[in-house]
Amino acid sequence: MEKDDCHPATHPFIHELKLTRAQRIRSLVLGVVLVPLRVLLAAVFFLLMWLIAPLRTAGLSAEERARPIKGWRRWFFHPIICQLSRAVFFSLGFLWVRVKGRRAGLKEAPVLVVAPHSSFLDMLILCPTQLPTVVSRSENASLPVIGALLDFNQSVLVSRKDPESRKKAVSQLNERLTSNGYWPQMLMFPEGTTTNGKVLIKFKPGAFLAGVPVQPVLLHYPNKLDTVRWTYRGTTWTEALWNTTSQLYTNMTVEFLPVYNPSPEEKEDPSLYADNVQKLMAAALGIPATDFVMEGRFPVCKLGGLSLPVELESPPRETLSLLYKHGLKEPEVEAALKEMIDRCQSRSQESTVSAEELGSILGVTDGETAATICSLFSKDESVDLRQVCLSVAAISGFFSFKSLLHTGFNLFDSEGKGSLNAQTLSGLMGALLGFPQHNISQLYTEAASEGQVTEENLLRVLTTHQTYQRVVNEYLRPEALLDGKTINNNANAVHNGNGSLHYKKSE
Ligand SMILES: *[C@@H]1O[C@H](CO)[C@@H](O)[C@H](O)[C@H]1NC(C)=O
Ligand SMILES: *[C@@H]1O[C@H](CO)[C@@H](O)[C@H](O)[C@H]1NC(C)=O
Ligand SMILES: *[C@@H]1O[C@H](CO)[C@@H](O)[C@H](O)[C@H]1NC(C)=O
Ligand SMILES: *[C@@H]1O[C@H](CO)[C@@H](O)[C@H](O)[C@H]1NC(C)=O
Ligand SMILES: *[C@@H]1O[C@H](CO)[C@@H](O)[C@H](O)[C@H]1NC(C)=O
Ligand SMILES: *[C@@H]1O[C@H](CO)[C@@H](O)[C@H](O)[C@H]1NC(C)=O
Repeated sequence: MEKDDCHPATHPFIHELKLTRAQRIRSLVLGVVLVPLRVLLAAVFFLLMWLIAPLRTAGLSAEERARPIKGWRRWFFHPIICQLSRAVFFSLGFLWVRVKGRRAGLKEAPVLVVAPHSSFLDMLILCPTQLPTVVSRSENASLPVIGALLDFNQSVLVSRKDPESRKKAVSQLNERLTSNGYWPQMLMFPEGTTTNGKVLIKFKPGAFLAGVPVQPVLLHYPNKLDTVRWTYRGTTWTEALWNTTSQLYTNMTVEFLPVYNPSPEEKEDPSLYADNVQKLMAAALGIPATDFVMEGRFPVCKLGGLSLPVELESPPRETLSLLYKHGLKEPEVEAALKEMIDRCQSRSQESTVSAEELGSILGVTDGETAATICSLFSKDESVDLRQVCLSVAAISGFFSFKSLLHTGFNLFDSEGKGSLNAQTLSGLMGALLGFPQHNISQLYTEAASEGQVTEENLLRVLTTHQTYQRVVNEYLRPEALLDGKTINNNANAVHNGNGSLHYKKSE
């Protein structure tokens, strides 16, 4: 089974709900009555949970908390919290949950992998699965109600920022999944983020690291209106909540697929294991399995090891769009790009500039726009000018790819050796794409001839290699020039009638 790697035709991070006039009126009228009532009721149950959940671990030492909770604390509190969480969702309109298939026991499958991930309302799955443990961000542990529940569930907490905590979480996961029944079952959303459900995005390897059997679980919302989804763009969570609670009821179906036992190769290679389970679940859903992932703030597509920002949402495209919005005309943008390139080439000046300097080079007068552009490329106050100029120039349409590659190659081959090493190649690709590249090993291997990545070899691979020529043709396409106006308005540009994202110029 081949994967549909991610052509942006299936952009998974945008969900918009189109309502007819009648539906809108109905949702408004019902909503005015139902929404406050339901939210209030749910809040009351939530509050009860908040009061009760901490009792479960009350008085336990840190050491005891690090072990699975047993005895009366389990059998007494577990059903109460189960019923209360069911009550929360019942109040929100999930009157019944249809269950297909059989949930595997803890020893058959220590982990349930659930997809597609649609919104926070997916948490309802915890009820028919008897409150398994989850993995969550440590930031959430300090949230009022959620924090108490995460504690209750003895969740594994990971901090995004701290690599140490990531390591600790991986070892905790490993311990729990291989404990042979000592720890309760776990539940994970391997996609790691919510999508519009049109495709499955790449599975994160977490659930598959231990190489234990998993049970794939499909989550369907078979409703006339797809109200529950809440994604990176489009519907917000308040709209999703309003639109869902203003329906008389909302259908949900949980489908347990047979337990998946990994092959020896899959046990050795968690990403192969994750990919195979993804394909299996996608086939069961009848949708494509793709290589989209969310990397930092941006949705990206994985292609040949490279991370490619999904069209219209990459830092260079947003930059270009901001420049046009700021009132710059095409010749001014072109001149600013040329000036940036000159400045990068003059060895006497540092390539790192502050937001202010960037603003003055770009001819942007207001400090806010300059700061926004800076923040697209970098987490701190300064930015590597090479990234801004090459990536924006690449999609601007003012320069040929060949000439930019030449410029970029020389910028990164700062010692003039005529070849790049892994680090400088990663820098160059990151600068051309306007997005950090952490995995260029495949590209490096393809482009290296006699251990040398020369400009000529790199150009050859990027223009003729089956995978990498797509990077140039599809992701570095100078479409924004003629669409300077269109990309100012992402929501409209992204959707054509059938909800797919497409390239204006080629069609
Ligand atoms: C439902 O959500 C959509 C956005 O996806 C919004 O335009 C619409 O107004 C919402 N409906 C109601 C009744 O709020
Ligand atoms: C932990 O279990 C509670 C109890 O039902 C559930 O409502 C809650 O969502 C779980 N916590 C998380 C973060 O999933
Ligand atoms: C944890 O917090 C993040 C944002 O920080 C949020 O997107 C996510 O849904 C939260 N998870 C839970 C289980 O509450
Ligand atoms: C819920 O599912 C049933 C069929 O299983 C369907 O007839 C009904 O219209 C669905 N409800 C909504 C609100 O879409
Ligand atoms: C790097 O990319 C290759 C594909 O080119 C992939 O097979 C490999 O798993 C990636 N490595 C990491 C650490 O992501
Ligand atoms: C959606 O529209 C695009 C471009 O208009 C077209 O190429 C594609 O075939 C359409 N897809 C479907 C499923 O209709």
